[in-house]
Amino acid sequence: MAERVLEIRGLEVTFRRGEERIRAVAGVDLTLAAGEALALIGESGSGKSVTLRQVLRLDPERTTEVAGSVRVGGEEVGRLDRRGLRRLRGGRVGMVFQEPLLALDPVYTVGQQIVEAIRAHEPVSRAEARARALELFRLVHVPSPDRRLDAYPHELSGGLRQRAMIALALACRPQLLLADEPTTALDATVQIQVLLLLRELQERLGLAILFVTHDIGAAVEIADRIAVIYAGRIVEEGPVRAVIRSPLHPYTRGLLASRTEGALVKGRRIAAIPGSPPDLARPPPGCAFAPRCSLAVEACRRSVPRLEPFAPGHAVRCLRAPEWAASAA
Ligand SMILES: Nc1ncnc2c1ncn2[C@@H]1O[C@H](COP(=O)(O)OP(=O)(O)OP(=O)(O)O)[C@@H](O)[C@H]1O
Ligand SMILES: [Mg+2]
Repeated sequence: MAERVLEIRGLEVTFRRGEERIRAVAGVDLTLAAGEALALIGESGSGKSVTLRQVLRLDPERTTEVAGSVRVGGEEVGRLDRRGLRRLRGGRVGMVFQEPLLALDPVYTVGQQIVEAIRAHEPVSRAEARARALELFRLVHVPSPDRRLDAYPHELSGGLRQRAMIALALACRPQLLLADEPTTALDATVQIQVLLLLRELQERLGLAILFVTHDIGAAVEIADRIAVIYAGRIVEEGPVRAVIRSPLHPYTRGLLASRTEGALVKGRRIAAIPGSPPDLARPPPGCAFAPRCSLAVEACRRSVPRLEPFAPGHAVRCLRAPEWAASAA
């Protein structure tokens, strides 16, 4: 079995805000092998970014309660001290965001930033680091890379900025890349180019990628597996094809339906799943999707169903799934 680059077990994240406790992640398990790409998909507020940020412990300690285990390359992230975390961030784990201007500093050229990132983690000369930055720009297919390294972030187009941010994330040869909606802000053609680039990097560098998106199309393009998250819990997980062709959770089916309907009615957003996600400060006792689910029965409202294997590598958290799958077959 391939090495486990990332292993998340029973992750729970609760934010304290005044008197309220917001349970953003309510027990997430995820595993990523070397060179594997997993897409984490779900609606806004479902806990995608919070899960991702916990891999690097990026939330403020003072207001965040964390339970469970996150291991990167076998090392428990929660036990790392400040130095260990610095080594992890931008070292073994790279991260790219939706908005490159948040990751890139406007007052330095992109080349300077990559050189600094390399030198913060490795004892190499400026010239060596510059040579590697150039190599990285070639790797992410930036045209005229030598000249582009001396550009400031605002001098680059959106697509090139995204490539520069990816190069920066790869500066220290990470094993794992965390990507939080890295293509959402780009227009469709640039979006597909960046997805293809990520796929290529995954194959060439053996990079594991945890890719967060609410776009199923992007997930299909990039991922080997899909995990669907709802109200802080994985409700379905499996190989991309299996999840797309035979979704087992009513929520996954809703997401897939919203995609096709959205395509039919251009320029209009369609709420294919009626209702809205639960208040995370007051989650319902049973299945969090039950209040919006047309298949829900009394038992669904009593206790949270377990994530159960259904087919090889394909698991679902739904009491009605076996019945539903049997009738759909
Ligand atoms: N620092 C925080 N303090 C309090 N609540 C937070 C904090 N960070 C996130 N949350 C809440 O946790 C929930 C999950 O947020 P998260 O950012 O993970 O959603 P998401 O799935 O990434 O959504 P989107 O698609 O909009 O990015 C949301 O209800 C959010 O308001
Ligand atoms: Mg998010």
